Amino acid sequence: MSHQRSKVIIANWKMHKTIAEARAFITSLAMMAISQKTQVGIAAPFTCLAAAAHAAHGSSIEIGAQNVSDKPDGPYTGEISCQMLKDAGATFVIIGHSERRQLFHESDDLVNEKALRALNEGLQVVMCIGETRDQHQQGNTKTVLMNQLVKGLKNFTPQLFQKLIIAYEPIWAIGTHQNAAPEQAQEVHHSIREFLAQEWGKAISQNLILQYGGSVKTDNAHALVAQPDIDGLLVGGASLNFDSFRGILEGVR
Ligand code: PGA
Repeated sequence: MSHQRSKVIIANWKMHKTIAEARAFITSLAMMAISQKTQVGIAAPFTCLAAAAHAAHGSSIEIGAQNVSDKPDGPYTGEISCQMLKDAGATFVIIGHSERRQLFHESDDLVNEKALRALNEGLQVVMCIGETRDQHQQGNTKTVLMNQLVKGLKNFTPQLFQKLIIAYEPIWAIGTHQNAAPEQAQEVHHSIREFLAQEWGKAISQNLILQYGGSVKTDNAHALVAQPDIDGLLVGGASLNFDSFRGILEGVR
């Protein structure tokens, strides 16, 4: 049985954009007619969330954050809670991006805690997984990903999968202008879907949105989402410029 999953394209702005820049970008984006089947999200810096949500109001663009605390509230200087994200207008959050795993030492266990917290508080979660260049070259991609999935999805109930997106982002492809070839990404996505079916059942696996991320740009977006198991894109560098992000959205229609 073939399942029609919609395409989800998310801009990950990382540590870029002021409030005014975010507002201008999203106002222009909201005016653009986006294919009914494509869902668009902007993962903005914390400081831009409220302005971004305001600019997106009335459009189908979703606003999200790039990180969140695993704690509900309390004495955690510098941290941001799920409730604060929702209050600012965010509907989703990226969890476990490789930059957070590598630069800020976030473990699979912490990724799991954050995801459970965010999902239980009603946020949609984009959980990132991916292998390093060494792991890739040694042929360990699948083992690494399966391990990240088992730990990251610990204690997940079937219901929690409904608001989960998994983004496969090979670390060697992030910000390197060296995207995984569409067929290569498809093969990995397919094995992720097979593994999910084996561990959590076919219905969950068939319904889950699996995004690809890593050097996505206007000229490779179409070929990537044309793959049967690639349901969307997580776009870093190429999402910062409006024309380039628009080109990606036009390419996936
Ligand atoms: P990139 O980043 O598109 O600049 O490679 C993707 C990401 O880190 O999500």
